[in-house]
Amino acid sequence: MKLIRHLANLGYGSRKDVQKLLRMGVFTDAEGNRLTDNSDVAHEQLLYKGKPLDPAQGMVLMLHKPTGYVCSTKDRGQLVYELLPPRFSERKPALSSVGRLDADTSGLLLFTDDGQYLHKIISPKNHVPKVYEVTLARPIEGHEATIFASGALLLESETTPLKPAEMTQTGEKTARLTLHEGRYHQVRRMFAAVGNHVEALHRSHVGHLGLGTLKAGQWRLLAAAEAEGLLVNG
Ligand code: URA
Repeated sequence: MKLIRHLANLGYGSRKDVQKLLRMGVFTDAEGNRLTDNSDVAHEQLLYKGKPLDPAQGMVLMLHKPTGYVCSTKDRGQLVYELLPPRFSERKPALSSVGRLDADTSGLLLFTDDGQYLHKIISPKNHVPKVYEVTLARPIEGHEATIFASGALLLESETTPLKPAEMTQTGEKTARLTLHEGRYHQVRRMFAAVGNHVEALHRSHVGHLGLGTLKAGQWRLLAAAEAEGLLVNG
């Protein structure tokens, strides 16, 4: 791909903007040489204002989503994309979240600009477990884990029962829930189905991946092996 198009696709500006920036010498190779549209330099060797470029297409990142942010590109209110570098919203192909978390839910949210990867990871064949920490309005009664594990729980207005899910009680009103599918408002609706109400919800893990030391509002790129490791069936 020609350099101007590559840089424009990474969100550095329109093709016209990038052409100007190239003439100004803002983009260089590792030796500080100015580049033109025809320069044949590997992405990893390109510098923008002396610093490495944003990742090439095929990136996967995790965000520690705080509550109050919406997983959408155009809803009203605060959008999760505002927590990422503004250039990331200008990339082509676009950066998309891998599934969604409710505005009131915090925790691990993945993003990718790799359509094939997105397709694979959200495919029902790829049963990557998701772990949620749940805070409830009322004490846990004791029968919930058995109901969630049964594979027979039918949520309101649905015709297919939920897959078995594992629940561990962690306190009087707190639980850890591991899901193997992702239906609309699933955790909130599961607890509503057993007569409780979710007051706070946090996703701690997607597959083997946890948030580690990432604070709410922070993000980091995934290493290729981490991203591949989430594809349970390759
Ligand atoms: N289940 C929910 O109810 N909300 C989320 O954000 C994720 C899972």
